Amino acid sequence: MVQQHYDRYTAQDQLVWKVLFDRQTALLHKRACTAFTRGLQRMGFHRNAIPSFEEVSERLGQSTGWTVVPVAGMVNDATFFALLAERKFPATVWLRSMQQFDFIDEPDLFHDVFGHVPLLTDAAYANFLQFLGHVARRHQHDAVALQRLRALYWFTVEFGLVLEDDQPRIYGAGLLSSAGEVHHCVHDETTRHSFDLATVLHQEFTELRFQEQYFVLPSWDQLTESIAELSALLAADWQLKPVE
Ligand SMILES: [Fe+2]
Repeated sequence: MVQQHYDRYTAQDQLVWKVLFDRQTALLHKRACTAFTRGLQRMGFHRNAIPSFEEVSERLGQSTGWTVVPVAGMVNDATFFALLAERKFPATVWLRSMQQFDFIDEPDLFHDVFGHVPLLTDAAYANFLQFLGHVARRHQHDAVALQRLRALYWFTVEFGLVLEDDQPRIYGAGLLSSAGEVHHCVHDETTRHSFDLATVLHQEFTELRFQEQYFVLPSWDQLTESIAELSALLAADWQLKPVE
């Protein structure tokens, strides 16, 4: 855990935020799901300033009780899921440079804050994410269970789509914060399956290139329904105690 030293962001950093913000908000028009668009407004993010984590936590706290925890970079799975279980989201304080604009190899502030935070204002998403944290924490010594939970996290929280007005809309942060993949994931020729929890849990994924397939929730309510479904699958499939 680190501090966000806001005064250390340079004019160049602020410019990077502004250009990324402008590009993504334009790209996501009519492509992002309603919960994200509403969340972005609720958080009050704007092009002229990198968000202050203190203010982010204050606003999130007022809506769903989540906070962001500033971190220097990626945290290990155990820490990550333990934080989620406590309604704390680890967010990176560093921001990519102009030279790295489209080529970062690990999440930066733009991905974590622009991509993830707005949806944390949504009750269904906020509860789903906390539940994943609980389940993962409980099964932290079970490599198979953790692999399945990573797959679920990947195809929902990072690369998830949801059907709205018969159109696939984006809610995965990996998509919301990436210019190229926004086009790819909703392209007519891209493979999209209707979300099925058991299938997603067993799915393999790559971090190295655009996804070859995406899973589309039939409705936003499916996130909440997945919580109960996951509990049942845990008991039946993994021979483990269901999570209360
Ligand atoms: Fe992420």
